[in-house]
Formats: sequence, C-alpha cells, structure tokens
Amino acid sequence: MTPSPAGPGGRRHLRTRCVHRPARPDAARPGLSLPIDRSSTFLQDDAARELTDAGRWDEALVYARYGSPTVEAVQDHLADLEGAQRAVLFGSGMAAIHAALLGLRQPGRPVAVARELYGGTADLLTALGEFGIEAVPFSVYDLTSLSSALEQGAGLVWLETVSNPTLRVADLPAVVERARAAAARVVVDSTFTSPALCRPLAHGVDAVVHSATKLLGGHSDLLAGAVLGEAHLLDPVWTWRKRAGGSLDPQAAWLLERGLATLALRAEAAGRGAVAVAEALANDPRVAWVSHPSLPSHPDHALAADLLEGPVPLVAFALREGDAGLRPFADRLRVALDAPSLGGVETLVSLPAFMSHAALSPAERVAVGIGPGTVRVAVGIEDPRDLVEDLLQALG
Ligand SMILES: Cc1ncc(COP(=O)(O)O)c(C=O)c1O
Repeated sequence: MTPSPAGPGGRRHLRTRCVHRPARPDAARPGLSLPIDRSSTFLQDDAARELTDAGRWDEALVYARYGSPTVEAVQDHLADLEGAQRAVLFGSGMAAIHAALLGLRQPGRPVAVARELYGGTADLLTALGEFGIEAVPFSVYDLTSLSSALEQGAGLVWLETVSNPTLRVADLPAVVERARAAAARVVVDSTFTSPALCRPLAHGVDAVVHSATKLLGGHSDLLAGAVLGEAHLLDPVWTWRKRAGGSLDPQAAWLLERGLATLALRAEAAGRGAVAVAEALANDPRVAWVSHPSLPSHPDHALAADLLEGPVPLVAFALREGDAGLRPFADRLRVALDAPSLGGVETLVSLPAFMSHAALSPAERVAVGIGPGTVRVAVGIEDPRDLVEDLLQALG
C-alpha cells in the first residue's frame, strides 16, 4: 500500500492509519476504545451558543440528528483514510446516496447517471424523476455517451468505481476530464473498492460515496453510509442528513470504527482470495466465463493495474449450465453462503438473475453483461484453498 496523499496522518501507510484514529488517546481520554456517547441532546453552554449564534450548526453539539461525538470521531477517521477534508456518515448507504444526490446536483441541470449502477441507486433516481430531477443515462465504457449527456447540460456525473456484477473498472481520470470541461461535478460510489484499493478524490473526483455496510464495516453486522469530499462541498449533504434524518446511530458508528481498524488487512486477504478463486474458475470447463480485473483476459486489466492498489474482492462468472444450474449450485455450497451484500469477512454468493437484477428480462440482463448462469462471489477472508475447493465442488 502507498501512503495517502492527504489527511492528518498522511505520511503513514494506510494499514497504520486504519488502526490509529487521527485523535489519539490522551490524559483527558485515556481509553483506547472510542467512547460511545448515546446522548440524543447536548447542553447548550457558551461555546455551543457561540457556534449556533454564528449559524455553525454542523460544528456545534446540539442534537444527535445534527451530529454526535462518536459519529464525528468515526467521520474524522474515515476522512483520513479516504484523503478527504470531511466525511458525513449516514444510517445506510442509500441514505448517503439520497443526500449526496440532492445536495450535490446543480439545480436546473440533469444528472448523468452510469447505466452500470447498483439497482437501489437506479430505483432512487427513477423515483426522484417524479420530483423533477432528470437523469440522463451514459455508459462508463463508452465515454462518447458521457460527452453527449454533458452536452445535454448534465451538472452532476454519478458512477461507480467498479460495476456490479460485471466488475468493469471506470476510467476515473477520463471521466473527470470530460466533466470538468463541462463544469459538472463527479460523484463516485466507491463501495466495491473502499479506500484500501482506490481513493477517487486523488483522481479529481468531487465526492465519494460508500455503503459502509460493506467493506468499511466488514462484518455483516451494521448498516451505514458515508459521503466524503471537500468541507464546503459537503455542507448541503450535511443539511440533507439533518433534514431527512438519515443519521447514524452511535452504536453502529462504534462497530464501524472497529471494522475500520482491519480494513486494509481484510482488503488484502479478500483480494488474494478473489485472485485464487478467479484463476481456479477460469481453468474449469464447467464455467463459461470469469470476470476479474486481475485476469489478463479482463478488458480493464491494464486500467485496474493503474487505478487500483490491489485486487477487487469480488469475482463474477457464469455456469455453462445457465440459469437452471444457479440454485442447485448455491445449495451445494458448504463454506460460502448464498446471501446478498459483499465486503464482509465471510464469502457470499449472489445470483443476480434471482436477486439484484430479477426485475430485468433475460435479454435486458444480457445487455448489462449478465448472461445466463451468472454468479457473483463476494470473497471474504477465509483461507483461499477452502474457498476454491468449495466453489469447485459446488459446480457439481
Ligand atoms: C454499490 C452499492 N452502493 C450502495 C448500496 C446501498 O447501501 P446500503 O445497503 O448500505 O443502503 C449498495 C448495497 O448493496 C451497493 O452495492
């Protein structure tokens, strides 16, 4: 891992900064574990009044929907890891996406939205269309379609670092260059990579969004989301959190903090596992195709080597048997579990045809790269030998 270019601990390596929060224990707070402050409201002393009188509601401790000490400590830690000036945490990834879309769009201009998108985000954008927020689709892998969305006046470009479930990698510098020329902002949902693999802000992106439920939390035991970027840019995002109330509970923030300590370690272990799984599946005649950026056959193999600091912890592949083989395959698994989500310590297998992309017809699925028999494996930190053995025996 290379040192982060920004943040208070910027000279130290990511793995060290995962373990050590920017605010170190001291005589006033000697405990090594982050204290959980469950207060929903806070005493308004002179210092707090001075801030609220000056309109600085986001800096004062007022009421826990606005902000609270445990959540703020985790925000500072996450901002340090991402190389951001500021992080705003939310009660789920979708709450973060909602606030980022409403807070960062440029009023009166449409939003250019990648076609290769998490279904929940696509659904939210469809719903927001009823409130006059226009979305113009483009493909991350055909940047002329982005140029045409920008020509239609798009003021915000929304995409993901790595697409679900086909694991194509977005050329962030090329997207940023086109958006800049059109005075549009770029927001990247970096859930699939986390700051352990990619820090989009360093590539000129304006804001980063995470479902912290996934790699950041890492243990499949919390829901959280985050938006990160320059402090002033995040003011309206914070305001939407206060308005709509998607604030994070301090207990979940503490669990997230515990997960962050091992983020880099888990990302390394899961990435190694994903490479082993991809290579084993690629050599098996029962498998029609395998998609993982570490494979030389992957269309973004070179781009991934430039942009990502390690292997993506997900693998997509297709059973030669097609969709009829999917559920029997999942039923034969003895280590991996058939459950939606990703980024946890345990390997999860999901079947897009029955889960994330069930609403699409088979032809529509093929159009977004989900051919018959497609399986997504979200690799955990188990021993790769056990995972490979399990997946190969489940092929039947
Ligand atoms: C890429 C991506 N973004 C956002 C979300 C939504 O996050 P959450 O489930 O924490 O609301 C998900 C959930 O699967 C996701 O995969």
